[in-house]
Amino acid sequence: MVDISTSISGIKLKNPTMLAAGILGETGDSLLKIAKSGAGALVTKSIGVEPREGHPNPTFVETEHGILNAMGLPNPGIESYEEEVKKALKAGIPVIGSIFGGNIEEFELLATKMEEYGVDAIELNLSCPHAKGYGAELGHDKEKVEEITKAVKEKVKIPIFVKLSPNVSNISEFAKTVEKAGGDGIVAINTLRAMAINAELAKPILSNAIGGYSGPGIKPIGLRCVYEIKASTNLPIIGVGGILSGKDAVEYIMAGASAVQIGSGVYYKGEGIFAEICQQIREFMETHGYGKIEEMVGIAGKR
Ligand code: DHB
Repeated sequence: MVDISTSISGIKLKNPTMLAAGILGETGDSLLKIAKSGAGALVTKSIGVEPREGHPNPTFVETEHGILNAMGLPNPGIESYEEEVKKALKAGIPVIGSIFGGNIEEFELLATKMEEYGVDAIELNLSCPHAKGYGAELGHDKEKVEEITKAVKEKVKIPIFVKLSPNVSNISEFAKTVEKAGGDGIVAINTLRAMAINAELAKPILSNAIGGYSGPGIKPIGLRCVYEIKASTNLPIIGVGGILSGKDAVEYIMAGASAVQIGSGVYYKGEGIFAEICQQIREFMETHGYGKIEEMVGIAGKR
Protein backbone atom coordinates (compact mmCIF):
# COMPACT_ATOMS: atom_id res chain seq x y z
CA MET A 1 0.00 0.00 0.00
CA VAL A 2 1.47 3.32 -1.01
CA ASP A 3 0.73 6.53 0.86
CA ILE A 4 0.37 9.60 -1.38
CA SER A 5 -0.33 12.08 1.42
CA THR A 6 2.16 14.92 1.81
CA SER A 7 2.59 18.11 3.78
CA ILE A 8 3.80 21.63 3.12
CA SER A 9 4.88 23.76 6.05
CA GLY A 10 2.61 21.86 8.44
CA ILE A 11 -0.39 21.78 6.08
CA LYS A 12 -1.41 18.19 5.54
CA LEU A 13 -2.67 17.13 2.10
CA LYS A 14 -4.39 13.81 1.39
CA ASN A 15 -2.62 13.82 -1.98
CA PRO A 16 -0.04 16.13 -3.62
CA THR A 17 -2.36 17.75 -6.22
CA MET A 18 -3.71 21.27 -5.80
CA LEU A 19 -5.80 23.45 -8.07
CA ALA A 20 -3.50 26.26 -9.34
CA ALA A 21 -4.43 29.93 -8.85
CA GLY A 22 -6.62 31.52 -11.47
CA ILE A 23 -8.33 28.34 -12.66
CA LEU A 24 -12.04 28.09 -11.76
CA GLY A 25 -11.26 29.73 -8.41
CA GLU A 26 -13.47 32.78 -8.66
CA THR A 27 -16.45 31.25 -6.87
CA GLY A 28 -16.85 29.00 -3.85
CA ASP A 29 -19.07 26.69 -5.89
CA SER A 30 -16.46 26.08 -8.59
CA LEU A 31 -13.82 25.47 -5.89
CA LEU A 32 -16.13 22.93 -4.20
CA LYS A 33 -16.55 21.14 -7.51
CA ILE A 34 -12.78 20.77 -7.88
CA ALA A 35 -12.53 19.50 -4.30
CA LYS A 36 -15.13 16.83 -5.10
CA SER A 37 -13.11 15.74 -8.11
CA GLY A 38 -10.22 14.75 -5.84
CA ALA A 39 -7.78 17.68 -5.45
CA GLY A 40 -5.71 17.66 -2.26
CA ALA A 41 -5.98 21.45 -1.83
CA LEU A 42 -7.46 24.50 -3.53
CA VAL A 43 -5.81 27.78 -4.46
CA THR A 44 -8.22 30.68 -5.00
CA LYS A 45 -8.16 33.09 -7.90
CA SER A 46 -5.70 35.93 -7.22
CA ILE A 47 -7.71 38.51 -5.27
CA GLY A 48 -6.94 42.23 -5.05
CA VAL A 49 -8.26 45.10 -2.95
CA GLU A 50 -10.84 46.39 -5.46
CA PRO A 51 -13.04 44.51 -7.95
CA ARG A 52 -11.48 44.39 -11.44
CA GLU A 53 -13.12 43.60 -14.77
CA GLY A 54 -9.90 42.44 -16.40
CA HIS A 55 -8.88 42.94 -20.02
CA PRO A 56 -11.33 42.88 -22.96
CA ASN A 57 -11.41 39.74 -25.12
CA PRO A 58 -9.49 37.99 -26.54
CA THR A 59 -7.83 37.10 -23.23
CA PHE A 60 -7.04 33.45 -23.98
CA VAL A 61 -5.60 31.53 -26.93
CA GLU A 62 -4.49 27.94 -27.31
CA THR A 63 -1.17 27.59 -29.15
CA GLU A 64 0.75 24.52 -30.39
CA HIS A 65 2.23 23.45 -27.06
CA GLY A 66 0.41 25.48 -24.45
CA ILE A 67 -1.99 28.24 -23.60
CA LEU A 68 -1.49 31.97 -23.62
CA ASN A 69 -3.61 34.21 -21.43
CA ALA A 70 -3.82 37.78 -20.27
CA MET A 71 -6.99 37.99 -18.23
CA GLY A 72 -5.88 41.19 -16.49
CA LEU A 73 -6.37 39.85 -12.94
CA PRO A 74 -10.18 39.98 -13.02
CA ASN A 75 -11.61 39.37 -9.53
CA PRO A 76 -14.49 40.43 -7.28
CA GLY A 77 -12.29 42.28 -4.75
CA ILE A 78 -11.42 41.12 -1.24
CA GLU A 79 -14.55 42.43 0.52
CA SER A 80 -17.00 40.30 -1.44
CA TYR A 81 -14.70 37.27 -1.57
CA GLU A 82 -15.40 36.25 2.05
CA GLU A 83 -18.52 34.33 1.05
CA GLU A 84 -16.62 32.38 -1.61
CA VAL A 85 -13.82 31.38 0.80
CA LYS A 86 -16.35 30.26 3.42
CA LYS A 87 -18.08 28.09 0.82
CA ALA A 88 -14.80 26.60 -0.41
CA LEU A 89 -13.76 25.75 3.16
CA LYS A 90 -16.80 23.45 3.44
CA ALA A 91 -14.91 21.02 1.18
CA GLY A 92 -12.79 20.10 4.20
CA ILE A 93 -9.47 20.32 2.34
CA PRO A 94 -6.87 23.11 2.71
CA VAL A 95 -7.70 26.37 0.94
CA ILE A 96 -4.86 28.71 -0.01
CA GLY A 97 -5.75 32.35 -0.63
CA SER A 98 -3.89 33.84 -3.61
CA ILE A 99 -3.47 37.61 -3.41
CA PHE A 100 -1.99 40.37 -5.57
CA GLY A 101 -1.31 43.94 -4.51
CA GLY A 102 0.43 47.04 -5.79
CA ASN A 103 2.31 47.80 -2.58
CA ILE A 104 3.08 46.48 0.91
CA GLU A 105 -0.05 47.98 2.48
CA GLU A 106 -2.33 46.26 -0.03
CA PHE A 107 -0.62 42.90 0.52
CA GLU A 108 -0.92 43.33 4.31
CA LEU A 109 -4.62 44.14 4.09
CA LEU A 110 -5.37 41.27 1.68
CA ALA A 111 -3.46 38.71 3.75
CA THR A 112 -5.12 39.85 6.98
CA LYS A 113 -8.58 39.54 5.41
CA MET A 114 -7.83 36.13 3.89
CA GLU A 115 -6.66 34.89 7.31
CA GLU A 116 -9.85 36.24 8.91
CA TYR A 117 -11.92 34.43 6.28
CA GLY A 118 -10.26 31.17 7.40
CA VAL A 119 -7.81 30.16 4.65
CA ASP A 120 -5.04 27.74 5.62
CA ALA A 121 -2.20 29.63 3.89
CA ILE A 122 -1.51 32.63 1.67
CA GLU A 123 0.02 32.54 -1.81
CA LEU A 124 1.63 35.83 -2.85
CA ASN A 125 1.26 36.42 -6.59
CA LEU A 126 4.53 38.22 -7.27
CA SER A 127 4.71 36.84 -10.76
CA CYS A 128 1.79 37.70 -13.09
CA PRO A 129 3.90 38.47 -16.19
CA HIS A 130 1.95 41.36 -17.72
CA ALA A 131 -0.11 43.39 -15.20
CA LYS A 132 1.00 46.98 -14.86
CA GLY A 133 2.01 47.76 -11.28
CA TYR A 134 1.37 44.22 -10.03
CA GLY A 135 2.80 40.70 -10.08
CA ALA A 136 6.17 40.40 -11.74
CA GLU A 137 6.70 44.17 -11.75
CA LEU A 138 7.24 43.70 -8.00
CA GLY A 139 8.44 40.11 -8.15
CA HIS A 140 11.40 40.91 -10.40
CA ASP A 141 12.80 43.24 -7.71
CA LYS A 142 14.50 41.29 -4.88
CA GLU A 143 14.12 44.12 -2.40
CA LYS A 144 10.37 44.28 -3.02
CA VAL A 145 10.05 40.50 -2.71
CA GLU A 146 11.86 40.69 0.62
CA GLU A 147 9.86 43.65 1.96
CA ILE A 148 6.47 42.25 0.95
CA THR A 149 7.20 38.74 2.26
CA LYS A 150 8.48 40.13 5.58
CA ALA A 151 5.56 42.52 5.99
CA VAL A 152 2.92 39.86 5.28
CA LYS A 153 4.71 37.38 7.52
CA GLU A 154 4.48 39.83 10.41
CA LYS A 155 0.75 40.38 9.87
CA VAL A 156 -0.52 36.80 9.78
CA LYS A 157 0.12 33.52 11.59
CA ILE A 158 -0.68 31.16 8.71
CA PRO A 159 2.07 30.03 6.28
CA ILE A 160 3.08 32.30 3.40
CA PHE A 161 3.99 30.78 0.04
CA VAL A 162 5.52 32.98 -2.64
CA LYS A 163 4.74 32.22 -6.29
CA LEU A 164 7.84 33.12 -8.28
CA SER A 165 8.32 34.26 -11.84
CA PRO A 166 10.40 32.16 -14.24
CA ASN A 167 11.05 35.32 -16.27
CA VAL A 168 14.30 36.05 -14.43
CA SER A 169 17.82 34.79 -15.05
CA ASN A 170 18.33 33.53 -11.47
CA ILE A 171 15.16 32.17 -9.87
CA SER A 172 17.10 30.55 -7.02
CA GLU A 173 18.30 34.00 -5.88
CA PHE A 174 14.64 35.00 -5.53
CA ALA A 175 13.87 31.82 -3.61
CA LYS A 176 16.78 32.57 -1.25
CA THR A 177 15.37 36.06 -0.75
CA VAL A 178 11.99 34.57 0.22
CA GLU A 179 13.73 32.22 2.67
CA LYS A 180 15.69 35.10 4.22
CA ALA A 181 12.47 37.13 4.58
CA GLY A 182 10.78 34.32 6.53
CA GLY A 183 8.53 32.91 3.79
CA ASP A 184 7.29 29.35 4.39
CA GLY A 185 7.41 27.93 0.88
CA ILE A 186 7.90 28.57 -2.81
CA VAL A 187 5.43 28.01 -5.63
CA ALA A 188 7.30 27.60 -8.92
CA ILE A 189 6.56 28.55 -11.63
CA ASN A 190 4.09 31.17 -12.81
CA THR A 191 3.56 31.65 -16.54
CA LEU A 192 6.19 32.77 -19.04
CA ARG A 193 5.89 36.14 -20.74
CA ALA A 194 4.88 35.37 -24.31
CA MET A 195 2.70 36.32 -27.26
CA ALA A 196 0.83 35.07 -30.34
CA ILE A 197 0.37 36.88 -33.65
CA ASN A 198 -2.53 36.63 -36.08
CA ALA A 199 -0.74 36.83 -39.46
CA GLU A 200 -3.98 37.50 -41.40
CA LEU A 201 -4.72 40.54 -39.28
CA ALA A 202 -1.04 41.38 -38.83
CA LYS A 203 -1.51 41.99 -35.13
CA PRO A 204 -1.23 40.29 -31.74
CA ILE A 205 -4.09 37.93 -30.84
CA LEU A 206 -4.49 38.93 -27.19
CA SER A 207 -6.06 42.33 -26.54
CA ASN A 208 -3.15 42.95 -24.15
CA ALA A 209 -0.68 41.74 -26.86
CA ILE A 210 1.52 40.05 -24.21
CA GLY A 211 0.34 37.30 -21.90
CA GLY A 212 1.43 34.38 -19.76
CA TYR A 213 2.30 31.03 -21.39
CA SER A 214 1.42 27.79 -19.57
CA GLY A 215 0.83 24.11 -20.36
CA PRO A 216 3.02 21.26 -21.64
CA GLY A 217 5.53 23.57 -23.37
CA ILE A 218 6.73 25.03 -20.06
CA LYS A 219 7.25 21.78 -18.12
CA PRO A 220 11.02 21.53 -18.77
CA ILE A 221 11.44 25.12 -17.56
CA GLY A 222 9.36 24.48 -14.44
CA LEU A 223 11.38 21.35 -13.66
CA ARG A 224 14.65 23.25 -14.02
CA CYS A 225 13.40 26.03 -11.72
CA VAL A 226 12.22 23.61 -9.02
CA TYR A 227 15.52 21.71 -9.26
CA GLU A 228 17.55 24.92 -8.88
CA ILE A 229 15.42 26.16 -5.96
CA LYS A 230 15.70 22.80 -4.19
CA ALA A 231 19.49 22.98 -4.49
CA SER A 232 19.68 26.46 -2.99
CA THR A 233 17.06 26.68 -0.20
CA ASN A 234 15.53 24.52 2.51
CA LEU A 235 12.01 25.76 1.81
CA PRO A 236 9.31 23.33 0.73
CA ILE A 237 8.38 23.74 -2.94
CA ILE A 238 5.06 23.44 -4.74
CA GLY A 239 5.77 22.63 -8.39
CA VAL A 240 3.56 23.94 -11.18
CA GLY A 241 3.84 24.19 -14.96
CA GLY A 242 2.59 21.77 -17.59
CA ILE A 243 1.55 18.89 -15.33
CA LEU A 244 -0.92 16.68 -17.22
CA SER A 245 -0.13 13.21 -15.88
CA GLY A 246 1.07 11.35 -12.81
CA LYS A 247 4.45 10.98 -14.50
CA ASP A 248 4.72 14.76 -14.90
CA ALA A 249 3.87 15.15 -11.19
CA VAL A 250 6.47 12.54 -10.19
CA GLU A 251 9.09 14.40 -12.25
CA TYR A 252 8.35 17.61 -10.35
CA ILE A 253 8.50 15.73 -7.03
CA MET A 254 11.86 14.19 -7.97
CA ALA A 255 13.12 17.68 -8.92
CA GLY A 256 12.25 18.83 -5.40
CA ALA A 257 8.52 19.57 -5.09
CA SER A 258 6.54 18.29 -2.10
CA ALA A 259 3.24 19.01 -3.86
CA VAL A 260 2.10 20.12 -7.32
CA GLN A 261 -0.49 22.45 -8.79
CA ILE A 262 -2.61 21.80 -11.86
CA GLY A 263 -3.80 24.74 -13.97
CA SER A 264 -3.81 24.30 -17.74
CA GLY A 265 -4.25 20.57 -17.14
CA VAL A 266 -7.84 21.25 -16.07
CA TYR A 267 -8.40 22.95 -19.43
CA TYR A 268 -6.87 20.03 -21.37
CA LYS A 269 -8.32 17.11 -19.43
CA GLY A 270 -11.22 18.40 -17.36
CA GLU A 271 -11.81 18.11 -13.64
CA GLY A 272 -11.14 14.37 -13.69
CA ILE A 273 -7.43 15.18 -13.96
CA PHE A 274 -6.92 15.30 -10.18
CA ALA A 275 -8.14 11.75 -9.53
CA GLU A 276 -6.36 10.53 -12.68
CA ILE A 277 -3.00 12.01 -11.65
CA CYS A 278 -3.35 10.59 -8.10
CA GLN A 279 -4.03 7.12 -9.48
CA GLN A 280 -1.06 7.36 -11.84
CA ILE A 281 1.22 8.51 -8.99
CA ARG A 282 0.06 5.51 -6.90
CA GLU A 283 0.75 3.11 -9.76
CA PHE A 284 4.20 4.61 -10.38
CA MET A 285 5.08 4.29 -6.69
CA GLU A 286 3.85 0.70 -6.54
CA THR A 287 5.81 -0.40 -9.59
CA HIS A 288 8.96 1.44 -8.50
CA GLY A 289 8.95 0.49 -4.82
CA TYR A 290 8.24 3.87 -3.23
CA GLY A 291 6.05 3.88 -0.11
CA LYS A 292 5.73 7.61 0.58
CA ILE A 293 5.89 10.85 -1.41
CA GLU A 294 8.74 12.17 0.74
CA GLU A 295 10.97 9.29 -0.38
CA MET A 296 10.87 10.81 -3.89
CA VAL A 297 11.14 14.53 -3.04
CA GLY A 298 14.31 15.91 -4.62
CA ILE A 299 15.89 12.54 -5.39
CA ALA A 300 16.82 13.62 -8.92
CA GLY A 301 19.08 16.22 -7.32
CA LYS A 302 20.88 13.88 -4.95
CA ARG A 303 24.17 12.53 -6.20
C1 DHB B 1 -2.89 36.49 -15.24
C2 DHB B 1 -2.29 36.38 -14.00
C3 DHB B 1 -1.23 35.51 -13.82
O1 DHB B 1 -0.57 35.35 -12.62
C4 DHB B 1 -0.77 34.76 -14.90
O2 DHB B 1 0.25 33.92 -14.72
C5 DHB B 1 -1.36 34.87 -16.13
C6 DHB B 1 -2.43 35.74 -16.30
C7 DHB B 1 -3.99 37.46 -15.50
O3 DHB B 1 -4.92 37.60 -14.71
O4 DHB B 1 -3.92 38.15 -16.52
